[in-house]
Amino acid sequence: HRHLLGIKGLSEPDIHYLLDQADEAVKISRQREKKTTTLRGLTQINLFFESSTRTQASFELAGKRLGADVMNMSVANSSVKKGETLVDTAMTLNAMRPDVLVVRHSSAGAVALLSQKVGCPVINAGDGAHEHPTQALLDALTIRRAKGKVGRLTVAICGDVLHSRVARSNILLLNALGARVRVVAPSTLLPSGIADMGVEVFQRMEDGLKDADVVMMLRLQRERMAGSFVPSVREYFRYFGLDAEKLKSAKEDALVMHPGPMNRGVEIASDIADGPQSVIEQQVEMGVAVRMAVMETLMLHGELAR
Ligand code: CP
Repeated sequence: HRHLLGIKGLSEPDIHYLLDQADEAVKISRQREKKTTTLRGLTQINLFFESSTRTQASFELAGKRLGADVMNMSVANSSVKKGETLVDTAMTLNAMRPDVLVVRHSSAGAVALLSQKVGCPVINAGDGAHEHPTQALLDALTIRRAKGKVGRLTVAICGDVLHSRVARSNILLLNALGARVRVVAPSTLLPSGIADMGVEVFQRMEDGLKDADVVMMLRLQRERMAGSFVPSVREYFRYFGLDAEKLKSAKEDALVMHPGPMNRGVEIASDIADGPQSVIEQQVEMGVAVRMAVMETLMLHGELAR
């Protein structure tokens, strides 16, 4: 595990080790003086071919809190716009001797391809509909801190599973930690073979949310639906949007989660997103901590496993 390309391949102890490290990073982030010298002298390059608020900002802050020099490549102003390929861009940056590359790309597999061309660890910050491993880790950390465990909890992942790298990484991670994983979605927004991923499939929110400990909503990714089925927003919200009535099916103390960015009134009602069961802001805070833990582990130990 020289890179973090996905949750696939990580064991339960690997994951808990990273979450333990992230718990320590939360303490650092809550101090007034947040900067450490752990990665002093090392260079981090963030290379985002797709837009991002949370992931890019939190990787930048994570690197800075560990004392690394962080550079954000602005792809919009880079030679990618002049036709330079992904591999040539990677090899150019590699020649500048970074110590870690954080990469987001719209194509599944693009980050793995890039990792074969460079001499430093590569962290997948989201590749197409494939994986978003640090999102799944921050979700697990949020759940573990709120509930004291992840194993044996019932987690309902709801909405646009078809286009969601967040759903894929979470299904892999939650299964690795022994949670009971459900997906709730219209059949048009489910990938074929989903049942083989170790999940129970539901097509009605009331059924899928029944007695759930965690309700994880997904963004309706309309930008990835060109030419295929695009549901009407009003109808989607009526049947699959999380509102107070649907949330009653879950346990009274169920956590409400959303990876962001949120479409309020599309997949989640505004009052639920801001309500007492919502841990959406905690997810964002845990994002910085998890990224600190992943970078420290990869860059200091050279691999993710203990
Ligand atoms: N959750 C997430 O990946 O958000 P961004 O696209 O803003 O990074």
